[in-house]
Amino acid sequence: MPIQVSNQPDAFRDFERSGWNAVSEGYEAVFGPLTAQSVDVTLDAAGVIGACDVLDVCTGHGVLALAATERGAKVCAVDFSEVMVAAARRNAPSVDCRQGDAQDLPYPDNAFDAVVCGYGILHVPEPDRALAEMRRVLRPGGRVAISVWERPSPANGFGLLLGAVKAHGRLDVPLPHGPDFFQFGDPKDMKAALAQAEFSDVAAVTVAQMLLLETAAGLVNLPLQGGVRMRALLLAQDSTALSAINVAVAEGMDQLFRKEDRFQVPMPAILGSGVKPRQE
Ligand SMILES: C[S@@+](CC[C@H](N)C(=O)[O-])C[C@H]1O[C@@H](n2cnc3c(N)ncnc32)[C@H](O)[C@@H]1O
Repeated sequence: MPIQVSNQPDAFRDFERSGWNAVSEGYEAVFGPLTAQSVDVTLDAAGVIGACDVLDVCTGHGVLALAATERGAKVCAVDFSEVMVAAARRNAPSVDCRQGDAQDLPYPDNAFDAVVCGYGILHVPEPDRALAEMRRVLRPGGRVAISVWERPSPANGFGLLLGAVKAHGRLDVPLPHGPDFFQFGDPKDMKAALAQAEFSDVAAVTVAQMLLLETAAGLVNLPLQGGVRMRALLLAQDSTALSAINVAVAEGMDQLFRKEDRFQVPMPAILGSGVKPRQE
């Protein structure tokens, strides 16, 4: 299937950017411990094993960028949210972090040995443009590694949450049109997207990640505190629907994910990788 794009790219981009500016701190607090679990495997997939030039696209609070510097790399990072850029600069002061759009990267051609993008491509209005930009700034033979959330299923947290919204609320809330949040959310579709973007040696794997929560309500709070599209989806529900969603999530958490007095919620990632071909 061709890569889906927004049919309101400017409105969607503005919506995402103001959303990330608003939730930056919450994202780092609630999603940070989760996305940290796929940092090593992402850097491995991008071949970041020592001194090399690395770009972290959609860096957020700089988790991948910081870890790449700790492996000895020289690291640049980019994010379109000024609040996220400030967080990345705070967390990873040795990284050259700029404000910019993943669809129009502020770097020359063939500048990096590796490009990584953690959970960013699903927020971009035209992901095909962002993938083309990642390829442009890579040196021939350089590697890209991109993570996204696994598509909702009965065995993961997004499956429980979105299943509850579908059953008790509405999914068709008025938001600027964006591409399917989960369009790269299984290995087959991730590989197809990377091949469409003309990477070679494409691969994709599922990476296990576990969200540890003290309370069942933590699963609803996750997007409310640190999400953009899913936060807007939840905030757009009426109070009756929201109560029913909370009850359904609490029941599902008890049945599926309770481990004694806590909850362990699988939140797997799909990690795709590829190589910029040497012959153009
Ligand atoms: C889910 S966070 C990922 C943060 C971090 N990479 C991680 O692995 O946890 C997504 C980040 O992508 C950024 N972002 C979304 N769309 C973008 C775009 N078009 N250009 C640049 N950054 C973008 C957001 O500001 C946000 O910081």
